[in-house]
Amino acid sequence: METENTERKKVIFSAIQPSGTITLGNYLGALKNWITLQDEYDCIFALADLHTITVRQTPADFRRHTLEAYALLLACGIDPEKSPFFIQSHVNTHAQLAWILNCYTQFGELQRMTQFKDKSAKHADNVNAGLFTYPSLMAADILLYQADLVPVGADQKQHLELTRNIAERFNSAYSPTFTVPDAYIPKQGARVMSLQDPSKKMSKSDENTNAYVAVLDKPEDILRKFKRAVTDSDSHVCRAEGKDGINNLIGIYSCITGKTDEQIEAEFEGKGYGDFKTAVGEAVIEHLRPIQERYADYIKNKDFLEKCYTEGAQKALAISTRTLNKVMKKIGFIPKAF
Ligand code: TYM
Repeated sequence: METENTERKKVIFSAIQPSGTITLGNYLGALKNWITLQDEYDCIFALADLHTITVRQTPADFRRHTLEAYALLLACGIDPEKSPFFIQSHVNTHAQLAWILNCYTQFGELQRMTQFKDKSAKHADNVNAGLFTYPSLMAADILLYQADLVPVGADQKQHLELTRNIAERFNSAYSPTFTVPDAYIPKQGARVMSLQDPSKKMSKSDENTNAYVAVLDKPEDILRKFKRAVTDSDSHVCRAEGKDGINNLIGIYSCITGKTDEQIEAEFEGKGYGDFKTAVGEAVIEHLRPIQERYADYIKNKDFLEKCYTEGAQKALAISTRTLNKVMKKIGFIPKAF
């Protein structure tokens, strides 16, 4: 008897908002994994610019940030030949499926999202409906590509769980339509903390620029930020409860160098926090240096960027239209005859 070969590579989808600075947290929590997963999986990546307008943007800055983020992600190592890499607003299926999924998402589910609670407290003057329904758009992004895995940092876990619930709800209301995705959260780097208040996540929107390292920060700024990182009054470099600052720096150093916690503790045995902070800063600088050099080339080459994001959008549109058509047919919309 012939056995059918139904094996396919697993599909990965992920996205990042082009909302200005891309931080070391974004890089270690998500981007670094996107790059390494490209060989093993069918990957599709996006700049989630539709998500970004949930917070008011200045048009010229928004355009510039989007192009810069595109160039930076290529510089980090996204290979657009292997992995379609597009700008979300160029692919209409995202907004269309997001509307549909809004009708399969409960108000109470959205109300429970901690990111909504945080962001609506932070932008109390602009708690718009987009901020509230943001997770249905994110679910649309993922489900359109039938993604198996979604590499993200720990802060996106709750949105992924909601995506799974929406997919399962739709599948059981009709018939299997969406692949139910799993979050792919790294062991190290899933939650890079602020350098100024290590009880808080490192965030690009932090008012204190010493709290985060941007992937494009100058080497001297990176070193200064690590040297000033808030730690504790002990001096022994080891992981321990209550040593949030040092735990964070050990996590960053481990992600960058590939060393285990034990190796790091041995390396800094008998040395103080000062030496350790300098070593972390220097390791980060050396790791980011080639990315910064490639970025400087890409950002000058607007034609190349345009070619990449156009081709990426065309490929993404072809794949996502298949899913959208299937969904619309199942719901009962009359298929378009043109
Ligand atoms: P965004 O743009 O806030 O962040 C992009 C990625 O970076 C991760 N991240 C972190 N990881 C570790 N430590 C940190 N301090 C840190 N800060 C951010 C995030 O977890 C994320 O993986 N809603 C998403 C973008 C999005 C998306 C999607 C992601 C839109 N559609 C579909 C996955 C799939 C967001 O705002 O990420």
